[in-house]
Amino acid sequence: MEIIICPSEAEVGLVGAAKVAQIAARVGPEVVIGVATGSSPLSTYQALADRVEAGRLDLSKASAFALDEYVGLTHDHPLSYHDTIRRTVTEPLKMSPERVHVPDGSLTDLASAGQRYEEQIVAAGGVDIQILGIGANGHVGFNEPSSSLTSRTRMKTLTAQTRADNARFFDNPDDVPRHCVTQGLGTILDARQVLLVATGSGKADAIAAIVEGPVTAMWPGSVLQLHQHATIVVDEPAAAKLTMSDYYRLVQASLPEWQKLDA
Ligand code: F6R
Repeated sequence: MEIIICPSEAEVGLVGAAKVAQIAARVGPEVVIGVATGSSPLSTYQALADRVEAGRLDLSKASAFALDEYVGLTHDHPLSYHDTIRRTVTEPLKMSPERVHVPDGSLTDLASAGQRYEEQIVAAGGVDIQILGIGANGHVGFNEPSSSLTSRTRMKTLTAQTRADNARFFDNPDDVPRHCVTQGLGTILDARQVLLVATGSGKADAIAAIVEGPVTAMWPGSVLQLHQHATIVVDEPAAAKLTMSDYYRLVQASLPEWQKLDA
């Protein structure tokens, strides 16, 4: 794992965007990007949008696959992840809507929604770089604690904590859906690169657990220890409970030129 500790949330976004741009440059115009919703990746999306606006990055032929979707919200519901991804990713990054995919959380065909999504990812050639946030309880995607470390895209039940954390977006806490369709931990591990961004002291326990604790289904993000190319970009408050932060800073200060990101 590569751990990058940044002085601010804005810097987390710049470094996150630099990582995505590095992979896009390496893969080419048809790069496949895995995207998360929530607050954590917003500074990364902003920095990517700035690159697109400045003509330094072209994602018009790229594809995107979102991690998850609530069950039971229509695609045009403003809090559905279909609509959230349109507002925060597709439009600002000038991506083609037909190449941006979100799992189907409509109630009609939930049993097969996961399998269909897995097939779409495979048909696109797999995910080149997966952007992740992390829940305070260590979930990635909506793989809550106790999720199988080899799970695939499927329906899950949200924990009470996740529903409470996400209630800030809804008028009434009871409106937060109870179920979701989420990529599995095995699906996420299949991405060729993984970039996890986290900011704020509310994420400090989760970051310490997934980076320095054991690999365990009780901290689902810890599965990234099994990934060959996982980059964790955090601000100081999110890094506060890491015991080896001096080493992670030393690694970054000692990078050879060819390994440095163009942030
Ligand atoms: C979102 C997702 C979740 C969030 C996590 C953190 O698509 O899959 O894992 O990344 O809940 O949410 P924020 O960033 O809002 O703290």
